[in-house]
Amino acid sequence: MSQLLEILGSRYPILQGPIRDLNDPDMVAAVSEAGGFGILALGAVHNPEKVRGMIKEVKARTNKPFGANLMIAMNPNNEAILEVLFQEGIRTVTTSAGSPKKIYPKIQELGMKGLHVALSAPLAVKAADAGADGVIVSGLESGGLRTTGPESTNMVLVPLVCDMLNVPVVAAGGIADRRGFRAALALGAQGVQIGTAFLASEESPAHRGWKDAILACGDGGTTLLPRGPVAYRMIINRELKDGDNNEEEPGKTDRNWGAGQVSALIRKIRPIREIIEEMVS
Ligand SMILES: Cc1cc2nc3c(=O)[nH]c(=O)nc-3n(C[C@H](O)[C@H](O)[C@H](O)COP(=O)(O)O)c2cc1C
Repeated sequence: MSQLLEILGSRYPILQGPIRDLNDPDMVAAVSEAGGFGILALGAVHNPEKVRGMIKEVKARTNKPFGANLMIAMNPNNEAILEVLFQEGIRTVTTSAGSPKKIYPKIQELGMKGLHVALSAPLAVKAADAGADGVIVSGLESGGLRTTGPESTNMVLVPLVCDMLNVPVVAAGGIADRRGFRAALALGAQGVQIGTAFLASEESPAHRGWKDAILACGDGGTTLLPRGPVAYRMIINRELKDGDNNEEEPGKTDRNWGAGQVSALIRKIRPIREIIEEMVS
């Protein structure tokens, strides 16, 4: 068994990428039930007791392992939330969007495991030095939050980081089918994190317009939208071209949709089990 599967406890090394606050318990449970590792997105959930309730809802639907994502710089209550996660039997978390330095001592103190999302090789090294049990390497093609600086795609970033670290590496970004899954493993990753493909799944609570925008998105159909020091990968549409520059965070209207470049490969809304089974076939 790979180090990553030991950390996750799932059948397959396929993690659900957290998508802001798309936290339908059916969706998280569907990923775990299909053999992947479901993840609750807690970046925007500040109340630890609310987290307890969310965990109970997922537990009512599956007895397979699942985890949670903590966005470090965006949630002041991460330490209290970690305690609740531990009390409720969650053993593995992912961390993103911030320095791993302060949170990993707490994760270790609780005897939990953590995988940190890194958008570059130097940040992956820092995460391992801070005590992360693995890194989720997220290349330029990924959906979600990016930097405004120069970035590498996973074809370069994944093998680069694998050469530098002894902890397991997960590839996030650009993967929607078995070709991408196998390519990630060939590059040295022990597993993959899937954002856009699950966002466009049957179980995803995303607005139908969001899913349709992913289906309609072709080659070159996304762009990085800068917002101060960060950037969001968005599907290019008329609203984006006209500019919505007054908004602090894109994606909050019902017309601006975040998604990865891999949208170009997604042509059908499918159940999560079908996506995972095809991926590992
Ligand atoms: C709209 C959107 C929102 C996201 N929100 C989060 C988040 O809250 N926390 C996080 O760690 N990653 C977030 N991500 C990144 C995903 O979890 C995942 O790593 C990424 O989408 C993988 O790339 P892919 O979309 O090509 O599969 C988000 C991605 C998208 C598309």
